Amino acid sequence: MEEVVSLCRRRGFIFQSSEIYGGINGFWDYGPLGVALKRNLKDAWWNDIVMCPPDGPDGNPINVVGLDATIIMNARVWEASGHVAGFNDPMVDCRESKKRYRADQLLLLVPPDAAQGGDAGTRLFAYLEADTDSLAAASKKATKHCRRSGAKLDATVLPQSLLALDVAKWNNVVGPDAQEAGTLTEPRMFNLMYDVYNGPLHDEENRTYLRPETAQGIFANFQNVVDTSRVRVPFGIAQIGKAFRNEVTPRNFTFRSREFEQMEIEFFIHPSESDQWYAYWRNHRYQWWQSVGLAGDNLTLREHDQDELAHYAREGAGTCDVEYCFPFTAPGFGELEGVAHRTDFDLRQHAEHSGLKHKLQYFDQARNERYFPHVIEPSAGADRGTLALLCEAYTPDPERPSKVYMKFTPRMAPIKAAVFPLVAKDGMPDVAERIYKQLRQRFAVQFDVKQNIGKRYARMDEAGTPYCITVDGDTLTDQTVTVRDRDSATQQRMPIDAVETFLQEKIGG
Ligand code: GAP
Repeated sequence: MEEVVSLCRRRGFIFQSSEIYGGINGFWDYGPLGVALKRNLKDAWWNDIVMCPPDGPDGNPINVVGLDATIIMNARVWEASGHVAGFNDPMVDCRESKKRYRADQLLLLVPPDAAQGGDAGTRLFAYLEADTDSLAAASKKATKHCRRSGAKLDATVLPQSLLALDVAKWNNVVGPDAQEAGTLTEPRMFNLMYDVYNGPLHDEENRTYLRPETAQGIFANFQNVVDTSRVRVPFGIAQIGKAFRNEVTPRNFTFRSREFEQMEIEFFIHPSESDQWYAYWRNHRYQWWQSVGLAGDNLTLREHDQDELAHYAREGAGTCDVEYCFPFTAPGFGELEGVAHRTDFDLRQHAEHSGLKHKLQYFDQARNERYFPHVIEPSAGADRGTLALLCEAYTPDPERPSKVYMKFTPRMAPIKAAVFPLVAKDGMPDVAERIYKQLRQRFAVQFDVKQNIGKRYARMDEAGTPYCITVDGDTLTDQTVTVRDRDSATQQRMPIDAVETFLQEKIGG
């Protein structure tokens, strides 16, 4: 992962926010290549969901409309949604390391003496879930402890969660960044929403929140959209936008940030059809992530256990995650997108809290029935998606590990093609510039004359540019160029006039 982070910094994909002041934990900026990559992902999502939605289970295209709601909304939205009361994480502090952790993300390595019930001298070693460095540090401490007590750490004893441990035994726990036992405080609940105040007075009356999910902007506008767009159930409302969560432990690069972007669909259906639509979205979303370049064993679809359900999900209703095997979660997986059956929870809550029951119910003319539609919600993270694309693309050259290829699919690549004159003389730069100016009207292309051709190819390989178009001596006589393929390093000659069609076919989308 360090290599990916370092390439992101060096090539201008992702920088730490406010870096010149030492950064700020949990916030990241996208540089020139990063913003193009993330925009390609968001554009592909918008295109494939709103502009050209897939066919539904009956073979007819489904109907999804777009929305762009505000980040700051009336505080009552967040009371109705349950976020004020329930969007909490249990937090523990370590008195020794002064670090703070989410208690539900701490796992324990259990040496044999502790597994057998142990006394006050036994130790349990906490580490952060899905964090290989943290696990390695805990294993080191546990192995040392076992060596001292003459025991052997048994790899078959499964780690247990800190929250499942009897509070009486918390004094035996060594925190992830501590050496002594008993330094973790008892968990306190912590609301993840950022408070903001409207106007100059910072009082209760003027307090609201930065939205922790884009979904509520959709629910709050449900009736507006129904009244103005002639949509009929089943239909979806889609939105891409920023969300903010004051995460207790932002970590793993952009994976857990405090400011991030979501791509959410609320798909409104008749309650009797929820199983069918849940299965539909679950499969569609998994296939979509494959289509943008995450095909293979690194992508998986996992149904939730009942004890993982969010506050809006109902027991027995489907919820699953599309997950990716990031280097910091390997061999485990981390969530890219959740697909949840939210039932009619949100619309009912808003109907009750706003007093607009009749307005928020939907009148289904075909069925001659008034009801609160149920909702299937595919909710994806644009930053996690971008991070997965970066991790998947990262390919060191097997013969020269210092040389890296970023193997993005052409549709996701920040730069689609680079145009080079072989040498900066004999009129080649002029021809190359003409081709560049023609192509840039349709594609993200770059023009580069500096350095030798090998170095220019290497720079483009690292940026993940799938094609390099080179103007050479022959171009001047026969109007052909070479097109080099990043992944195979093979070159083909084609007429200048054929390049645009070639790129269109390869990039698609
Ligand atoms: N409306 C439902 C909802 O917000 P979620 O599982 O909390 O569900 C949806 O979030 C997606 O948003 C996640 O799958 C993830 O990709 C992204 N996400 C959530 N918290 C994040 C964070 N702290 N940093 C980056 N992405 C995050």
